[in-house]
Amino acid sequence: MPTNYIGKPINRVDGSAKVTGAARYAAEYNVPNLAYGYVVSSAIARGRIARIDASDALRLPGVLQIFTHENAPRLAQSDESYSDELAPPGSPFRPLHDAEIKFSAQPIALVVADNLELARYAATLIRVDYESEPHATDLKDKREKAYIPKPRTIIPPVPGPRGDAEKAYAKAAVQFAAEYVSPFEHHNPMEPFATTAVWEAGGKMTIYDKTQGVQNNQEYICNIFGLSKDDVRVLSPFVGGGFGSGLRPQYQLFLAVMAARELKRPVRVSLTRQQMFAFGHRPHTLQRVSLGAAPDGALEALIHTVFAETSRFEDYTEPVAHWSAMLYRCENVRLEHKVAQLDVNTPIDMRAPGATWGLYALECAMDELAYELGVDPLELRLKNYAEVDQRQNRPFSSKELRECYRQGAEKFGWARRNHEPRSMKEGDQLIGWGMATGVWDVNQMTAGAKAVLTADGKLKVGSATADIGTGTYTIMTQIAAETLGLPIENVTFELGDSSLPQAPAEGGSFTAATIGAAVKAVCEKVREKLFKLAQKVEKSALAGAGLEEVVFSDGRIALSSGASRFVTIADAMRHGGVSSIEEEVVADPDERKQSKYARNSHSAVFAEVKVDQDLGVIRVTRVVSAVAGGRILNPKTARSQVMGGIVWGIGVALEEESVMDQNFGRFINHNLAEYHVPVNADIQEIDVIFVEEDDSIVNPLGVKGLGEIGIIGVAAAIANAVFHATGKRIRKLPITLDKLL
Ligand code: MOS
Repeated sequence: MPTNYIGKPINRVDGSAKVTGAARYAAEYNVPNLAYGYVVSSAIARGRIARIDASDALRLPGVLQIFTHENAPRLAQSDESYSDELAPPGSPFRPLHDAEIKFSAQPIALVVADNLELARYAATLIRVDYESEPHATDLKDKREKAYIPKPRTIIPPVPGPRGDAEKAYAKAAVQFAAEYVSPFEHHNPMEPFATTAVWEAGGKMTIYDKTQGVQNNQEYICNIFGLSKDDVRVLSPFVGGGFGSGLRPQYQLFLAVMAARELKRPVRVSLTRQQMFAFGHRPHTLQRVSLGAAPDGALEALIHTVFAETSRFEDYTEPVAHWSAMLYRCENVRLEHKVAQLDVNTPIDMRAPGATWGLYALECAMDELAYELGVDPLELRLKNYAEVDQRQNRPFSSKELRECYRQGAEKFGWARRNHEPRSMKEGDQLIGWGMATGVWDVNQMTAGAKAVLTADGKLKVGSATADIGTGTYTIMTQIAAETLGLPIENVTFELGDSSLPQAPAEGGSFTAATIGAAVKAVCEKVREKLFKLAQKVEKSALAGAGLEEVVFSDGRIALSSGASRFVTIADAMRHGGVSSIEEEVVADPDERKQSKYARNSHSAVFAEVKVDQDLGVIRVTRVVSAVAGGRILNPKTARSQVMGGIVWGIGVALEEESVMDQNFGRFINHNLAEYHVPVNADIQEIDVIFVEEDDSIVNPLGVKGLGEIGIIGVAAAIANAVFHATGKRIRKLPITLDKLL
C-alpha cells in the first residue's frame, strides 16, 4: 500500500466518530454524582447589585448551593492571575468577583442542584435589586472618547505612515473617500460553551471543557485557584465549532471549577444559546477609506482609519487597517486604529479577526475607485499589484495572487462582464458581478509533539492542540503516516489534552504549520532510531547506507537506489529487541530565515448575485474563490475549510448582525432564529480553486494555513456585486433588502 498521504483527499479520521455520536463533547461526560450549574445573568448593562436574595431558591430540596459575589471563595487577586494567552491588555473579567455590573447578561450567580431542570427553576426564584447607572453602548456617540489602545502582544502594531498621505490625497487627480460600517457579530458555534469539572479525592481536577486551547485554560485555572499543573487536566478532544470564541477561557469554566471545588463534587455548567450572546464578539467597527489615484489608476494615496469598540476593562484590538499598508503598491499611506469603551463584554477574535472588516472596507473602496476611474475593478488591482511588501521593503516568501486573479477570473467568466451597473438582467432579476482580494498572515509558533511507535507497527502521535472542525486530526495523521511510511490506519493522533506536549491555542491559521512542523520533526526522530535498528538487522540490506539514501514507505525502509533492498519496520523493531520507540520534540520556527520575508496567503474572490428588482431580495448564485495557501495537505478538508469561509462570508455580507437595544444596552438576538446565518437554501454554486504555490520559507511543510483566508474578501465581493446589479452602494453591513429598497 502506498503510504504517501500528504496532498491526498483523505477522509476525516474523526468523521465516523462525529457522525455516529461516538465523539463526546464537554457537556456529554457523564460521571457519577454529577451536579448541574445554571448561570443567572444580569438584567442591566451597568451598575451594581444592591441586594441578591437566594433564600427561596436555596430552600428547594435538591438545590445544593447558590454562588454569588457574596459567598464565592476568595481567590487570586492580581489581574495577571486572570489573564491568559490571548488576553488583551487590561483587567480580565472575574465572574462573581464583586457587585459591579460591567455588561448586560454578565453572570451574577450560579445555582447548583441535583439536576439541570431544578437548577434552572431555582434560578427564577432569585431576587436581585440593582442600582443602575447610565450605560454607553452606541459606538457613534463615543467619537470624542476614541483613543489609541495599548497593543496586544500577539498582534503586530499598526504599520506607521509612509510618505505624506494627506498631501498626496489632496493633490490626486482622482479622489474617493467613504465610510463603511460593520455590525456586532457573535460566533455562535453549534456547540454552546460547557464545562464538566470533575473533582477527585485529594483535590485533583479533570476538566472537560469546550475550548480551542486546553493548556491556556489549564494555566488559567491553576493561576486562579493556586493549583499545580499536575493536579489539573483539561480535556477537549472534540469541539463543536469555535471560530475564535474558544481562544480565551469562557466564564462557565471558572464557575464549574469553583463549584466543584467548593462542593467537592463534579459539576457541569452549560451556557444557553441566549447566554452565548453575552461574551466575546466581533467588534462593531466604523471605517473610513480615502484613495487618491492618478488618471491611469495608479494609487498615490491611501488613508484607512478604523474606529472600533472595546469593553471598559480590556483594550481589544485586531488588525483591521494593517492590510492596507501592503496589499497594493502605494507611496503615501496612513493608517489609524482607535477604540472607545462601551458597556459590553470584551470583543474576542472571530474568524479572520480584523481582516474580515478591513478587507471589506478596502476592497469596496477599490471597487468604488474603479467606477470613479471607469476601469475594470480587476484591472485596477493588477495595476497596483504589490511585488514587494512595502511596509519593510521585504520580498514575499511566495505570492501567487496574480495567478489567483487569473484562474479565478477565468473560471468565473469575468471577461464577459459588462462594467455598467444594472446592465445585466435576467427577467426581473438584476445580475451583479463583483470581486475582491483576500490576504492573511502566515505564522508558525513553537509547539511540541510526542510519538510512540510500538512493535506491532502502530504509531501514536500527540500534541495539546485542538481540532475545531478544521481537520487537525486528519492532516496530522497524514503527516505522521507519510513521514514514517506507515499505513494510515496504523496511526492515531491525539489532541485536546493538556497533558500532551505544549501547543498554543488553535487559531490564527497557524495550526497546520505549527503542529505539522512538530509532528514531522518528532516522526523524523523516530525514523533515525528506526533506521539504526534496521541497519543492525542481520544481513541488513541497509548496512552502510546513510539516512538520506533510504525511503520510508509502505511499512518498509528501502534503499532509494533499489526498492527491492529493504528492511520492514516490523523486522527492525523485532530484531532490535525493542518493544517501542518514544520521542518528544519541541519545534521552533526558523525566525532568522522567515523574518526576511513577508509571509502571506492570498485569495481572489468573484461573486455573482441576483437581485429581485421589485423586492430587493438578494441571492448569491455563484462564488469562485481562488486561494494561494502554499502546499495543500488535504484537498478535501482544505476545500471544506475555504467553502465554510465563503458560506460565512455570505452571512457577513447579507445576514449576520447582533442587534443592540440601546435602551437596555443588551443584544436582542437570543437564538439562531433571529441571528441570521446562511442555511442550505441560501447557498448555491461555490467553486474553490487552490493555486499552486511553492514556499520553502514559511515552514518545513510549505503550508500557509487555511482557517481564515476563505472568509476574507467575500463580503466585499458580494457588496460589489450588489452595486453592479443595482447601482446602489450599501456601505453598512449586512446588506439587507430594506437597505436596498
Ligand atoms: Mo481563529 S479567530 O484565530 O480561532
